[in-house]
Amino acid sequence: MGSRPLIVLSDYAAVREALVTQAESFSDRPAVPIVLIITQKKGIVFAPYGPVWKQQRRFSHTTLRHFGLGKNSLEPKIIEELKYIKEEIKTHEKEPFNPFSVISNGVSNIICYLAFGRRFDYEDVEFTTLLSLMSRGLQICINSSVILVNIYPWLYYLPFGPFRELRQAELDITAFLKRIIAQHRENLDPENPQDFIDMYLLQVDEEKKKNKDSSFNEDYLFFIIGDLFIAGTDTTTNTLLWCLLYMSLYPEVQEKVHEEISAVIGLDRAPSLAHKAKMPFTEATIMEVQRMTVVVPLSVPRMASETAVLQGYTIPKGSVIVPNLWSVHRDPNVWEKPDDFQPTRFLDEKGQLIKRETFIPFGLGKRVCMGEQLAKMELFLMFVNLLQSFTFLYPENAKKPHMDGRFGLTLAPFPFNIIALKR
Ligand code: HEM
Repeated sequence: MGSRPLIVLSDYAAVREALVTQAESFSDRPAVPIVLIITQKKGIVFAPYGPVWKQQRRFSHTTLRHFGLGKNSLEPKIIEELKYIKEEIKTHEKEPFNPFSVISNGVSNIICYLAFGRRFDYEDVEFTTLLSLMSRGLQICINSSVILVNIYPWLYYLPFGPFRELRQAELDITAFLKRIIAQHRENLDPENPQDFIDMYLLQVDEEKKKNKDSSFNEDYLFFIIGDLFIAGTDTTTNTLLWCLLYMSLYPEVQEKVHEEISAVIGLDRAPSLAHKAKMPFTEATIMEVQRMTVVVPLSVPRMASETAVLQGYTIPKGSVIVPNLWSVHRDPNVWEKPDDFQPTRFLDEKGQLIKRETFIPFGLGKRVCMGEQLAKMELFLMFVNLLQSFTFLYPENAKKPHMDGRFGLTLAPFPFNIIALKR
């Protein structure tokens, strides 16, 4: 691409060899112009592989765990958010509606709670506009003429078309996050940190005392929060939207999920992570939706930090490496009838869940998704809670949806309407 070799890894063996076996050579991120302009190589997702990334990722992960990531203490917050989601869905009862806005607001509120210590109402116009801008930004950054910025960086500043749209998304998200960080600085109580931003600000103050070159500063915080907000919203939102769409198109699968929910939880108790082990069919269904749709289809690109031999080919230092997760999950050598939606492929003959090594929607290796536990928790609780309360139907007279999805950094379903019937 341009003057740089770009290598696409299209099966599990190649992806594993690069990302796990040769992790030291393939854990960097490419410094391509669009990435440099937007992230300045800061944050976690696009930070170069090295001590700063390691320090920042470790701090972020530990702090998110402190506030409940992957732990039962976050469960009540997710259940509380679901009350708002379900109330909103009920306002559309029996009428077709587009679930994008309510699902992205709800999912985003979980990250907002962890990072900013607050949620946003679904009527908040500034916030809902921001979420739409973000979703559009992730689409056009690789699925429009914006991709040419990687060859001619000045194109980014063109005052029209997708270039202007992407800059607007960047400007609005920046203003929103900077305002929240400033409010936190103003109200910071060192004895009682409330959320991720508070903890980070305290770390900044601590580090200032002992190391003036520390990578912890407010500028870096801005990029980390941006990463959490963007990586944590669009991915989980799209997965849940795909789940609802698949359920409406495969009523027989939806019915089996309903049966399992009724048998294990009933219709009155709130679902909990403790129920997960007893609900293999539901878990297999979520996994099969993830396999079919792979919401980060080309993962996040890597870069060879040194010349290395991979699968017998010499890969020059600086090459861009694209792990094609989409093809890994549709490989006919690994998955029988890979284009068919069959949750039972994740179950053994006794109906118990099978762990399949080749199922890797969160990537692999040192840069594996940092939010994997959070995403799995959200997906299970939200999917089960919604299916406990509703039956989802695809409107009878609506056009059949395109199941390929709208390609971008994330793979989103094309906008669709759905009917939610109260159970
Ligand atoms: C269904 C939901 C999600 C999917 C499918 C997903 C998938 C991915 C993938 C494929 C990568 C690239 C991994 C690699 O380079 O090998 C990634 C990276 C990342 N994800 Fe997720 N993700 C999801 C949810 C989340 C959430 C909720 C968060 C919020 C905490 C998050 C935070 C991150 C971060 C910070 C990285 C960069 C890690 C690094 O470069 O060290 N993700 N994700």
